[in-house]
Amino acid sequence: MINANSNSAPISALRASVQALPSSGIATVFAHGLGKPGLIPLWAGEGDLPTPGFIAEAASCSLLGGETFYTHQRGLPELREAIAAYHARHYGRPFSAQNFFVTGGGMQAIQLAFQMTVGAGDEVLVPTPSWPNFRGAVETCGGKTIAVPMQLEPAGWHLDLGRLFAAVGPKTRAIVINSPANPSGWTASQDDLSALLEFTRSHGLWIIADEIYGRFYYQGGLAPSLQHLITSDDRVLFAQTFSKNWAMTGWRIGWLQAPAALGQVIENLVQYNTSGVAAFMQRGAIAALNEGDAFVETQVQRAREGLEIVRQALAPLNSVRFVAPAGAFYAFFGVDGITDTLGAALRMVDEAKVGVAPGTAFGEGADAYFRICFLRSPEQLREAMRRLSQWIATANR
Ligand SMILES: Cc1ncc(COP(=O)(O)O)c(C=O)c1O
Repeated sequence: MINANSNSAPISALRASVQALPSSGIATVFAHGLGKPGLIPLWAGEGDLPTPGFIAEAASCSLLGGETFYTHQRGLPELREAIAAYHARHYGRPFSAQNFFVTGGGMQAIQLAFQMTVGAGDEVLVPTPSWPNFRGAVETCGGKTIAVPMQLEPAGWHLDLGRLFAAVGPKTRAIVINSPANPSGWTASQDDLSALLEFTRSHGLWIIADEIYGRFYYQGGLAPSLQHLITSDDRVLFAQTFSKNWAMTGWRIGWLQAPAALGQVIENLVQYNTSGVAAFMQRGAIAALNEGDAFVETQVQRAREGLEIVRQALAPLNSVRFVAPAGAFYAFFGVDGITDTLGAALRMVDEAKVGVAPGTAFGEGADAYFRICFLRSPEQLREAMRRLSQWIATANR
């Protein structure tokens, strides 16, 4: 029982691991810039297109048609079937609906994955730079992340697998593999993934696989994937989301892919976390999967163009360290002479009127970089890059 001292601030009576959760560095810049006239926001991890009408209509028909009651904890059977069919179509092998569980966004899939595998004192390896929510989610479970820094090499960000494996200790329970990665764009090769799976199999570790940017891969087709390698018993939990592919970030719907044997445990966890995802949103999600391939292609093409605009703008700047990402839709670049990227990002808001995310948000080895999202209209992105290039070339460091 918590010994609540009525004289102390309520926060001091909370669990220590929750009190200690870091706030997002992106939020600081966001709060500074929000509502500033003329600002072009490239700080968030989302495109600028709204959800396509056919998806919104499917949700709205369901809502108006009265689908307003509690629903299946694992997700509507039709949606789970549609997710399995989507995977079969894209990965070229059969998938079973029994392996898919509908969640409140990719974020909740990640949270459930850690709730199942990580407890107080357990450790999770996370290659960095990384999306900060992996660490946050592990820490809400009482666990700890161990950063395994990647290096920026002439060919792009590189993860040294030997270094990753050497970081495994007696308390390690899981390894996070986010490929293509936010924010670096690092993308594992199929050989890397095979070696990783073999290693985790022999050490009894879980892989938390986040391949949500797998469609945004600039060498063509889908990014290399663990989907080609796993068997039904492998300790691999995939977090997935409707957010990015189908422009549905505000919906908060995604899925967890797990061995079917975990079904009852996952159902219980969903029950005790959120008690499921609204049925009408799931109808929208079914439309996204069944009718949304062309829209995803449009998004990928838009990202490709965006990457080219960013590449052309940054290439002539000698002070910029940038290698075009293999996947995802972020440019992650450093500027010689700038180490305080949070301070610089605040200045960019005021002086260049462009919102960027400071590297401080992305863990060990990321401080000296900035992240911008290039899944935006070419006109807006060109203007943002014109302003940023000018700021970089002339700003007083
Ligand atoms: C790597 C990664 N995984 C998962 C997510 C989760 O997305 P959502 O919770 O919107 O589904 C994001 C969002 O930015 C992400 O970048």
